[in-house]
Amino acid sequence: MVAIGVRWVIAPVLVPTGGRETVSLRSAQWYAGDDRNSYIHRAWMRRGVPADAFDRPQIAIANTASDLTPCNAHLSEVAASVKNGIHEAGGIPLELPVVSLGETQVRPTAMLWRNMAAMATEEMLRANPIDGVVLLGGCDKTIPSLLMAAASVDLPAVVVPGGPMLNGTFRGVPLGCGTDVWRLSEEVRAGTLSREAFLRSESSMIRSRGHCNTMGTASTMAVVAEALGTVVPGVAGTPAPDSRLLEAAHGTGRLIVDMVAADRRPSTFITHASFANAIVALAAVGGSTNAVVHLLAIAGRLGIDLTLDDFDRIGSGVPVLVDLLPAGRFLMEDFHRAGGLLAVLREVRDLLDPTALTVTGAPLVDFLDDAPIWDPEVIRLRREPLVEHGGIAVLRGNLAPDGAVIKPAAASPHLLRHRGRAVVFDSVEDFHARIDDPELDVDADSVLVLRGCGPRGYPGMPEVANMPLPTKLLEQGVRDMVRICDGRMSGTAYGTVVLHVAPEAAAGGPLALVRSGDVISLDVDARRIDIEVPDDELAARSPSEATLAGFAAPRRGWERLYVDHVLQADTGADLDFLLGSTGSQVSRESH
Ligand code: FES
Repeated sequence: MVAIGVRWVIAPVLVPTGGRETVSLRSAQWYAGDDRNSYIHRAWMRRGVPADAFDRPQIAIANTASDLTPCNAHLSEVAASVKNGIHEAGGIPLELPVVSLGETQVRPTAMLWRNMAAMATEEMLRANPIDGVVLLGGCDKTIPSLLMAAASVDLPAVVVPGGPMLNGTFRGVPLGCGTDVWRLSEEVRAGTLSREAFLRSESSMIRSRGHCNTMGTASTMAVVAEALGTVVPGVAGTPAPDSRLLEAAHGTGRLIVDMVAADRRPSTFITHASFANAIVALAAVGGSTNAVVHLLAIAGRLGIDLTLDDFDRIGSGVPVLVDLLPAGRFLMEDFHRAGGLLAVLREVRDLLDPTALTVTGAPLVDFLDDAPIWDPEVIRLRREPLVEHGGIAVLRGNLAPDGAVIKPAAASPHLLRHRGRAVVFDSVEDFHARIDDPELDVDADSVLVLRGCGPRGYPGMPEVANMPLPTKLLEQGVRDMVRICDGRMSGTAYGTVVLHVAPEAAAGGPLALVRSGDVISLDVDARRIDIEVPDDELAARSPSEATLAGFAAPRRGWERLYVDHVLQADTGADLDFLLGSTGSQVSRESH
């Protein structure tokens, strides 16, 4: 390794390097020296760059821009601003296209590929002469996969969230991405909206570049990543078309060079306290349940002992302060205008761990002094919360021995304690085939059970838990029912949905043993989800042939690897051999 002088300019947002004057660059393992191999590494990269470029920090820009990930399609423009910042600070920017997952396009579900994207990104960062990385993500799985990769390779890393799209409107009323698709399609099924009007709203749904504009999974993961300390404080939630996003990208480009100088790697500043702050943020913004599996997976890569129960213990007393769809009324553009995440966190400052650091080297709480709420309709004051107790409730019982989650703020209060007869579906296909059958024995008190949708069973744990209600009940005015599933639900969805049931049916969980007509009891206050069937009777049951038929194991490729190694939702649904960090060391030369 060579030592170079630290001579780049430090922007105001950055912190000093603690008096260090020299930094050893990992990339020097490729570029330093006068032997044949260093010649080869330099010569093929030279292509017009000066010789001293190889003495400077080599910064990858892991870019998930893709025409097939429309929420991230603008990220190459963001990358250009990052590059300018890196150059200014004395680094060498190197764009690295990485696996990108378009939530609405990828089948059978983007979640099947999250771990693959994380693994591929990790390996490419490790394999290349990289000293640090700027992570450009947006659409649901992209920030999680990038952070999982960065945690495992443990190089200095910082996220630039791609930002939400601007508010769209239809007939003068704001449209929330995702949430209003569910709402409008239910209105069509209920006969209160024409199909023609529904289809006309399609061109209004996506107004601009950027990811979904509700507090869905993409917005949630951006703000949670900031609360975790991996985004420059104040940047998450900046709308994609807002020029301030490019300014932030430019500043982040400068910052990553400083992070390399300070050797500020994920393992040096992300701690359990960081996750505790992320959980507080998740609750205060009324964020997506998907953040649970993603945060557990990121923690697993860092070797941090984060558990499902931490979400309940830390988050369930936190008030929801953000009045955004799907739990409230407004959209991300309003959230940013109203002050963004820092304004929210200032209201719950006493609940934050002051020791948790950020990519800047300074604690997160240091950024809260000048973070006013500009619109208390959108971001509520602590004394006037949208919901007094937010967060994620973790349920256990004989139906979910390893846990299941529910988001009480998105549920109907009258259903939080409920008993009802199960109506069981063995697969998504079975559900669609029968849910609108006029003969289906279902009423408003029934509990819809959908299985075969966990990590192994689908495979990939799709967002299907928020099952559409039977048309005949919609026509009667029913708008919510208790639903139970071993899959996930979209962050833009709402309802009394018990999800992430673990173990899943395909992994031998008791969900596989439920029969239509069994009574299921839900008691969110008591954190219980049970099937009222005696233990001995339950033990004597075996899964029906229809249930087993849905779990045919894939024979080849990624799906096979995934099914053989995926863990359950209660630990983040990562692959067993990807847990932990192997760092950035590469043992052998390539020639
Ligand atoms: Fe990309 Fe919603 S589909 S963020």
